[in-house]
Amino acid sequence: METAITAEGLRKRYGDHQALSGIDLSVPAGTILGVLGPNGAGKTTTVRILATLLEPDEGRATVAGYDLAKQPLQVRRNIGLTGQYAAVDERLTGRENIELIGVLLHLGRRAAKARAAELLEQFGLTDAGDRMAKTYSGGMRRRLDLAASLVARPPVLFLDEPTTGLDLTSRLALWGMIREQVDSGTTVLLTTQYLEEADQLADSIVVIDNGRVIADGTPDELKRKVGGERLEVSVADAVDLPAVIRTLAAVSPAVPVVDDETRTVSVPLTGGVATIASAAAGLETLGIEPEDFAVRRSSLDDVFLALTGQTGRAAASDTAGDGKEAGQGPVAAVSNSKQKEKEPA
Ligand SMILES: Nc1ncnc2c1ncn2[C@@H]1O[C@H](COP(=O)(O)OP(=O)(O)OP(=O)(O)O)[C@@H](O)[C@H]1O
Ligand SMILES: [Mg+2]
Repeated sequence: METAITAEGLRKRYGDHQALSGIDLSVPAGTILGVLGPNGAGKTTTVRILATLLEPDEGRATVAGYDLAKQPLQVRRNIGLTGQYAAVDERLTGRENIELIGVLLHLGRRAAKARAAELLEQFGLTDAGDRMAKTYSGGMRRRLDLAASLVARPPVLFLDEPTTGLDLTSRLALWGMIREQVDSGTTVLLTTQYLEEADQLADSIVVIDNGRVIADGTPDELKRKVGGERLEVSVADAVDLPAVIRTLAAVSPAVPVVDDETRTVSVPLTGGVATIASAAAGLETLGIEPEDFAVRRSSLDDVFLALTGQTGRAAASDTAGDGKEAGQGPVAAVSNSKQKEKEPA
């Protein structure tokens, strides 16, 4: 397959801060690459370099077949960019915002108008199209911003945290719009802090931390790398947490992961059923009645936490169909998730 974006050894320093320490990427045409990383990892810096807004200190890249350093103009003609902060002109209407871009792109006034009408329709903004953008909600601004980046029908799209701050409904709507672009052949590089978003949208993922790629693969590959299944124990009372942590630490070679908010402790299920049995026995001895005791497949959250030591801004709890589907009840969950494991094979 043709490669739409390649990057080799991108490095960038701001003063004495090394923001990128050698980023390599390769994105096949017509696919979505999800770039994940904690705050300050270098995601926006990478996007800005690939979009020709910033020069790298070292390294080379091609976008849509053009060399970033030698053919920046061609690169610019073949990309769309929506930044981390929606860049719409507040005092213009939605329609005027899009038309203006068409005019700036030399589409001609008539074609710019037609394209604006088409995009407003596609992004559900026809009714609001003649209102000033300052009256738009956050979700509408994001949609307008994305629409504006598509005026020239660019084959490569950079989306820097396109759905940050949106509620779930708006996020799902935007995901649909992004998928439509990819279905029609567009290549997308998307940064996000919502792991659920990467899981749902991305064909492949790179995890960046401190300006380096620390892992890459498909969402499933990454989940497998971190270890298929986890034993997860929740308690109703936070007072019981230390005992649960000790119990799980005793049955697993890995350090238990603790979520204080949900009073949940989890470990990778390296020893299979024996681990489950010892954990259950250990809790029983201590007189702890878990609120939930379940086995579930690793989620992208686990991957992110294991790799970066930080939790992502995961949407796991507000979306159905994530890795938690197996976590119904103790015994059922075990057999359930075993069956699920076999399905893809
Ligand atoms: N113009 C700048 N001058 C100095 N330092 C900068 C500049 N832009 C970014 N940095 C630093 O470079 C590092 C990478 O920043 P970048 O914006 O690429 O991170 P990010 O992964 O996009 O983070 P976030 O998730 O918060 O958007 C950070 O430590 C940041 O403080
Ligand atoms: Mg950023």
